[in-house]
Amino acid sequence: MKEFTCVEELRGIARRRVPRMFYDYVDGGSWTESTYRANEADFRKLEFRQRVAVDISKRRTATTMIGQAVSMPVAIAPTGLTGMQIADGEILAARAAKRFGIPFTLSTMSICSMEAVAEATQRHPFWFQVYVLRDRGFVASLIERARAANCSALMVTMDLQVFGQRHKDKKNGLSLPPKMTLRNIVDMAMRPRWCLGMLGTRHRQFGNIIGHVDGVSDMGSLVEWTAQQFDPALSWRDVEWIKERWGGPLIVKGILDAEDARLAVDSGADAVIVSNHGGRQLDGAPSSISALPPIVEAVGGRVEVHMDGGIRSGQDVLKAIALGARGVYIGRAMMYGLGACGEAGVAEVLRIIRNELDLSMAFCGKTDVRQVDRSILLQR
Ligand code: GLV
Repeated sequence: MKEFTCVEELRGIARRRVPRMFYDYVDGGSWTESTYRANEADFRKLEFRQRVAVDISKRRTATTMIGQAVSMPVAIAPTGLTGMQIADGEILAARAAKRFGIPFTLSTMSICSMEAVAEATQRHPFWFQVYVLRDRGFVASLIERARAANCSALMVTMDLQVFGQRHKDKKNGLSLPPKMTLRNIVDMAMRPRWCLGMLGTRHRQFGNIIGHVDGVSDMGSLVEWTAQQFDPALSWRDVEWIKERWGGPLIVKGILDAEDARLAVDSGADAVIVSNHGGRQLDGAPSSISALPPIVEAVGGRVEVHMDGGIRSGQDVLKAIALGARGVYIGRAMMYGLGACGEAGVAEVLRIIRNELDLSMAFCGKTDVRQVDRSILLQR
């Protein structure tokens, strides 16, 4: 495979290779998409403080996230429909992450099941993201299955009990399996590589759910299904319950408010993720990078603070680390690599991001990502 220069280049290819409805699902936010855009734009407002004449001959990007070794402070975010960007998408991304030495997080709404991912990665530990559904028995069974699949952390998402409307998904009639409308048939026919892959895999439905929930053999519209199943009464008591049941490291995702961050810590979180769900939920909420500093301050080092939203380069990673994040997650950047070139595409995204992180850190006169702090950013 040729070398790419930046994540944006892979996005362009993914756009051509992935059927419109599934590409749009990734490259979009809710309502006006203001928060979606702000996630990226606010990174660009931060300026680095260049330093010179520092010995930068030996450099290190390796560190830890929740005590687990990572080759750089980046994990793969849980993303729904990953296996619709390309056949077996979750397995391919998990393999790329394993080879690169970073955590892979599998979404509840994945296509490949956690068992399939575990088997295809020789039971290499990964993280599992759980949604709190009305049926707590099913949530408990997801937790037990995650344990059996050798997951080394559980992540609970707090900001998707109701769905932010994404205009593109509504217009495209996003559903699984895709409705066989003329538009969809023509769209898929123009992407033969994608179709061939899908014909060759048995993973074409929500693998963690179909066959595990009585009476659910077809979820139809994702929005309708979540509206019926996700519990809008989710509370911090549920987080305590999950922590108790799971017993291992628990990451709480979807925090934008300092008070909520404190409550998450009090409920047993081992890390919190500052996240607006990639601008896909509450449009008009602050960008993740602007929400990060007050949350880092509120948490006061009691647990790790992670963030996601808008990370498209290693420079973005460095800025988030400078503002106090212990690690960050890539969702869309990973999906673009996957849609463009499968496992090799995800590996390429990771290579690009690490390279940008390493060089930018060096320009700022730092040689170890663990020593990066606010001093590498200009304070004006
Ligand atoms: C699911 O998490 C989504 O954002 O669509």
